[in-house]
Amino acid sequence: MGDQVSVPADQQQLWNGVAGKGWTEAQAVLDAMFAPFEDLLTGILPGDPDGPLLDIGCGTGALTLAAARGTRRCTGIDISEPMLARARERAREQGIAADFIRADAETHRFEPGSHARIISRFGVMFFDDPVRAFANLRGACMAGARMRFAAWRAPAANPFMTTAERAAAPLLPALPKRDPDGPGQFAFADPYKVQAILSQSGWSSIGIAPIDIPCTLPVRELDGYFTRLGLLPLILPSLDAGLRAEVIETVRAAFAPFVDGEQVRFTAACWLVDATA
Ligand SMILES: C[S@@+](CC[C@H](N)C(=O)[O-])C[C@H]1O[C@@H](n2cnc3c(N)ncnc32)[C@H](O)[C@@H]1O
Repeated sequence: MGDQVSVPADQQQLWNGVAGKGWTEAQAVLDAMFAPFEDLLTGILPGDPDGPLLDIGCGTGALTLAAARGTRRCTGIDISEPMLARARERAREQGIAADFIRADAETHRFEPGSHARIISRFGVMFFDDPVRAFANLRGACMAGARMRFAAWRAPAANPFMTTAERAAAPLLPALPKRDPDGPGQFAFADPYKVQAILSQSGWSSIGIAPIDIPCTLPVRELDGYFTRLGLLPLILPSLDAGLRAEVIETVRAAFAPFVDGEQVRFTAACWLVDATA
């Protein structure tokens, strides 16, 4: 049995460590899985002013690169060096002119009023002080700039996302727990909290709409998915080989309700959040 481990409270440590490694290794699988979010987040919106775009928590860059295929100047910002390295590599491979900067979006000194659009796919739920972060992002925007991001609804609406930890918990008393009040995947599950954060940070015309997006990944990628992402990779390396194999087998079986032939299918229950600077 492994020692008690906890989810690193420090997001820099997490995203430059276990989480950054997992997301980078699984980049192709994750991008195919979350591809349905691309058009939704990068498309032109009614009244969308022209000008530079900023992708918050851009990670390995899928959304930034998708947006940069148009005519806008696009910049991805992230705290994770391994994920940004992958993003820059993909920009080079695809011959796309996009900028990627390593910085904390909560505190980075953007040029005031310099951006016309902000987007994010699951990259805005990790701030220590979300009101300060969204006020900082608003300061980076010109008047009338539009922000659109996707964030997860509650764990209960997203059983796929918690299957691994629920299945593994009886075998692993030391499995870290999520802090429902801290930064993390489900930090924006409460739409009233999101509304309050955005209005306190000076955003207006706030819209928060539920979206249910069908997602798929090949069955052959399932083990790689749950051993690299979420809570399990925080503890798997510390287990002896026998227990690790038992955990993996148990978790794989727990995903059976989502398996449909060669594909794993689930619904991503999210909020599509819009606001204007
Ligand atoms: C769930 S991943 C999403 C990555 C990417 N948007 C995607 O959809 O593939 C969350 C990302 O937010 C980044 N992140 C967390 N806190 C951040 C902060 N304060 N400033 C900038 N990026 C941050 C992480 O490093 C990570 O790349």
